[in-house]
Order: sequence, then C-alpha cells, then structure tokens
Amino acid sequence: MMDPPTCSGDFLSKQVTMNKKEYQFDYEVYESIDDLTEEDKWLLDEAREVTQHAYAPYSRFQVGAVAKLNNGEIIAGSNQENASFPAGLCAERVVLASVSSLYPKMPIETIAISYFNNNGESNHPISPCGICRQALQEFREKTKQPIRLILGGMHGKVFIIPDAAMLLPLSFTSTDLQ
Ligand code: THU
Repeated sequence: MMDPPTCSGDFLSKQVTMNKKEYQFDYEVYESIDDLTEEDKWLLDEAREVTQHAYAPYSRFQVGAVAKLNNGEIIAGSNQENASFPAGLCAERVVLASVSSLYPKMPIETIAISYFNNNGESNHPISPCGICRQALQEFREKTKQPIRLILGGMHGKVFIIPDAAMLLPLSFTSTDLQ
C-alpha cells in the first residue's frame, strides 16, 4: 500500500471550490390519531387492523400498511417473514407490489403504516426501512405523484410525511443507469 499524503505547505495553500448544501423537509406531528381527519383516521385504523395479518414468527414485530389509490381503491399489505430471513418482505413492499400487480401505473395517494410489537411497546411512529424507502421512491417516480405517509403505532403520536421521497435524499434512481 502507498503511504497517505502528508500535509505539506502546497496542500494547505491549494484553492478548492466547495459548496455546502443543506437538506431539510417539513412533516406534521399529531399528538394522537384523534387529531387526524376522518379519512386519515380510518386509514391508520385499517393499518392497525392489518398488522394482525402479518406473518412475523421470527421478529414478532407485525407491520400493517394500507394504501389509498387515486381510483379510490384500498389495498392492504403486511410483513411476511421466512425461515430464510433475507427472503422476508416488509409490509410497505408487499403493498407496493400488490398495487402494481392489481392496478399497473395507478398512483398511490396515501399509505398508512402501523405496527404491533409483541416484544415491547407500540407507542411511537415507525418509518419505512432503507430498502422500502428506495422502493417507495421508485414507485413515486413511475407514477409521477407524491406518496403521502401516515405513520403511527397502536397509540401515541402520528407523523404525516407529505412525500415518501423526502425520506431518501440523493437517492439512486433509474436515470442514473442511463
Ligand atoms: N418491517 C416492516 O414490515 N416495515 C418496516 O418499515 C420496518 C420493518 C418488518 C420487517 C420484519 O419482518 C420485521 O418488521 C422486523 O424488522
């Protein structure tokens, strides 16, 4: 291996061009489900119910995701695990795949996501894992419409994120492959 460069006078006087960028996004925080609109409340309640459909014998962490589509249809998904752990699917990707299969190219208005943690509390919002953020981002690009997220546990605060893509700044996208 080569030695790393030493800090010479030349290096210190070198002119560099560097811009600092900042990334921030706004989201809404509600004290409880009771503060939501009737429709959002209904969607989050459905997501809570759908946690019961999860197959999560390994993590015992049951996640439910309920999507409202532009055509008014409601599609549900839950996490589906496997003894070969990496074969497991998160609720978010289950719901995205179902929507795409049933209604190709149909945009999603909102997804409500909830969970039931058999190992502990279910009292704060969880947000999608990194792989699901990538999948949400691509779905959003494909359908050219922001996907609003409602995030909440069985009780406690609720977050509303106006566009799932906000959760994945500087994302790798299909255009990078061109
Ligand atoms: N899980 C989801 O379904 N969605 C998330 O956003 C986070 C994690 C699932 C994957 C796995 O079955 C279990 O929760 C524990 O990680």
